[in-house]
Amino acid sequence: MSSLRETDPEVWSAIQGEEQRQSEGLELIASENYTSQAILETAGTVFTNKYAEGYPGRRYYGGCEFADVVEELARQRVCQLYGAEHANVQPHSGSQANMAVYLTVLEPGDTFLAMNLAHGGHLTHGMHLNFSGKLYHVVHYGVREDNHRIDFDEVARLAREHKPKLIVAGASAYPREIDHARFAEIAREVGAKLMVDMAHYAGLVAAGLHNNPVPVSDYVTSTSHKTLRGPRAGFILTRKDNARDLDRTVFPGMQGGPLVHIIAAKAVCFGEALKPEFKDYAQQIVANAQALAETLTAGGLRLVSGGTDNHLMLADVTAIGLTGKIAEEALDRAGITVNKNMIPFDQRKPLDPSGIRIGTPALTTRGMKEAEMKQVGEWILQVLRAPDDEALIARVREEVREFAKSYPVPGVGRLS
Ligand SMILES: Cc1ncc(COP(=O)(O)O)c(C=O)c1O
Repeated sequence: MSSLRETDPEVWSAIQGEEQRQSEGLELIASENYTSQAILETAGTVFTNKYAEGYPGRRYYGGCEFADVVEELARQRVCQLYGAEHANVQPHSGSQANMAVYLTVLEPGDTFLAMNLAHGGHLTHGMHLNFSGKLYHVVHYGVREDNHRIDFDEVARLAREHKPKLIVAGASAYPREIDHARFAEIAREVGAKLMVDMAHYAGLVAAGLHNNPVPVSDYVTSTSHKTLRGPRAGFILTRKDNARDLDRTVFPGMQGGPLVHIIAAKAVCFGEALKPEFKDYAQQIVANAQALAETLTAGGLRLVSGGTDNHLMLADVTAIGLTGKIAEEALDRAGITVNKNMIPFDQRKPLDPSGIRIGTPALTTRGMKEAEMKQVGEWILQVLRAPDDEALIARVREEVREFAKSYPVPGVGRLS
């Protein structure tokens, strides 16, 4: 059999470049992670060839007996992981999981309440250019100016005033634990349904380190590729009484054939998350985030809300005379990848905001612990204190490259 190197040297070469980039750099993007070799292998199997429209036992194509096995495994395992009655594991991504719930619960023009993007919400929580902002009337809540925690007085006031059909909890850039029960109380009071988008902290919920939204929500959506460390995809959890409507929305409502190879990889991911070792991993993510937050704070960076309870932190870099864009670019040149991010009450624009978002799931997968986080924090501070000093940045890049070698990335070097 010929190798990819021979059959398509251009794509092979890009993959080599990406393997090198991932191995030699430090990945601190809060929404990224490294899947296991087992998950990579599963995603690269012949299941990619298979059409399996429908659901296990009720397919529109023949030859689905093994597709049924992996989808059933994925559904059972994720229900066990989160204590859910029903799972739909077919959404291709987190955005599609959210779309499926909106299309199940809402009619165009209906009102939903969700977190302001500039305060940590996601595009699919009603950003004006996103389908969610175009199809629905969206009202946004945010965080309090004094402590950067979700302003539940505002959530309750807006819910009473606008009577939304749906309340959305969950965020992309919120460094604190979210009180799902408080959201459920407000939703109940105004007769709204509650959807929790736990995409970012799904791994922490699986490990029992973040309160579980399943018992108090109507729908829980998630990605499988962030703290949960699975393949790039989405899933939805709900009660049995919502199962039929939700499943019909996903297929045939908004998707055709499911990605069976990715569903198989999700089954492997949920199996990994059910193992006791996953709890150790998730605990280390949080311990690492705290160690990094302490180092950055001691070095003069102001962290939104003063710290972190979870896997991520938001640093206001204007406090040291930079912008998010300058900080992101300087760190990138040093081999340290973060993303620029709006901070609550930001006076700047999304393409050059005041902050950067930093997360520890990926470095934790590589085996780094608190001592390594202190070192990483020191490099970040050195670069941010001298973002124009190319000699210093080159030196940090070299040190990062040497250091990173000791922490292998799963799956690198798999291709012949
Ligand atoms: C809270 C939240 N929901 C949904 C998504 C969307 O996931 P995807 O990029 O897989 O569509 C993200 C992605 O970052 C997210 O942070």
